Amino acid sequence: SLSKIFSLFVMSWNDYRRLPQAIIIGVRKCGTRALLEMLYLHPGIQKAAGEVHFFDRDDNYDKGLDWYRKKMPHSFKGQITIEKSPSYFVTPEVPERIRAMNASVKLLLIVREPVTRAISDYTQLRSHASSSSSPLPSSTTGGWTGSSGGWTGSSGGWTGSSSGWTGSSGGPPPRSFEQLAIRPDGSVNSAYRPLALSIYHTFMHRWLEVFPRQQLLVVNGDRLIEDPVSELERVESFLGLEHRIGRHNFYFNRTKGFYCLRNDTQDKCLRDSKGRKHPRVDPKVLGKLRRFYVEHNQKFYELVGEDMGWPE
Ligand code: A3P
Repeated sequence: SLSKIFSLFVMSWNDYRRLPQAIIIGVRKCGTRALLEMLYLHPGIQKAAGEVHFFDRDDNYDKGLDWYRKKMPHSFKGQITIEKSPSYFVTPEVPERIRAMNASVKLLLIVREPVTRAISDYTQLRSHASSSSSPLPSSTTGGWTGSSGGWTGSSGGWTGSSSGWTGSSGGPPPRSFEQLAIRPDGSVNSAYRPLALSIYHTFMHRWLEVFPRQQLLVVNGDRLIEDPVSELERVESFLGLEHRIGRHNFYFNRTKGFYCLRNDTQDKCLRDSKGRKHPRVDPKVLGKLRRFYVEHNQKFYELVGEDMGWPE
C-alpha cells in the first residue's frame, strides 16, 4: 500500500546519518555560517546543526566516530553531508584526525581580507563581553533570524563616537580595536588573537602537509558577501554538484545590508550576529595593518597557488 511505501521511505531516511563528505574548516568570521546556509539551498546538501567541534575538542574526539556520525543530519544516498566548525582551521591536531576519518574528504576554507576579518573578530568578542543577557554564543545557534532581520544601530552598543562605545555596566570602558592592535611603541601587536588568526599561512601549511591541494577549496568570503551566486558556483563545481543555486535564491535586504536567502517555502536572513556593524577604525591604523599583512598574504597566496587580491 501507499502508506507502507511512505513509511519505508521515512525509515530509510531516518536510518541514514552519514559522516560528512565535506567540511567547512574555517576561518572564523569569514562567513562560515553564510556559506553553510547558502549551500543548504542546494537539494544535494544536508547540514549538521550548530557546530559539532568533533576534531578540535579532545572530549568530543574521544567519543569516537559513531558519536560524530550521530551528530549528522539524516540524508539520502547521493546527498552530501556538511558540517562547519571554524576552530578546526587553527587546531594543530585536526588535519591528521580528519584524514584518519576519510582521506578523500573535501575541505572548504573561507577567508576574508585579513584586516576586515580581525575587526569582525574584535566586534564579536566585544559584543560577547558586553552582553551578559546572551545565553549562547552565536556560533552554537542556528544562525537564522526571521526575514525582518534589521540591525537597529543600538543593539551592538556602538556609536559613531571615536571611542566607539557606550557601555552601560560601569567599570572601565572596553579597549578600542586600535589600542589592542597597536602597541604603545607604534608596532603591530601580532600576538593579539584577532590579528594572529588573520595570518592565514601559519595555519594553512599544516593542512597542505596532510591533504593534497586539490582537496581543498579556498572560498572568497568578501565575494560571497557581494555576489554569493558566482562564489557558490565554484563551490558547487568543487563538490561535484549540478548548478542549482541561482539568483532566485537571494534578495538584497537593505536594512541588513546583506543578501538574504530564499527557497520554495521561505525567506531568511542570517541572524543579527551575522553582519554586525563594525566600529570605525583610524585610517592610519588600517594602513599600518594592511602593510603588516602584505608579506603574510603573499605567503598564503604562494601556499595555495592563488592570489586573493587583498589591498596592499
Ligand atoms: P560581520 O558580522 O563582521 O559582518 P562567521 O559565520 O564565520 O562568523 O562569519 C560572519 C560573517 O559572515 C559576517 O561578519 C558577515 O560579514 C559574513 N556574511 C557573509 N554573507 C552574509 C550574509 N548573507 N548575511 C550576513 N552575514 C554574512
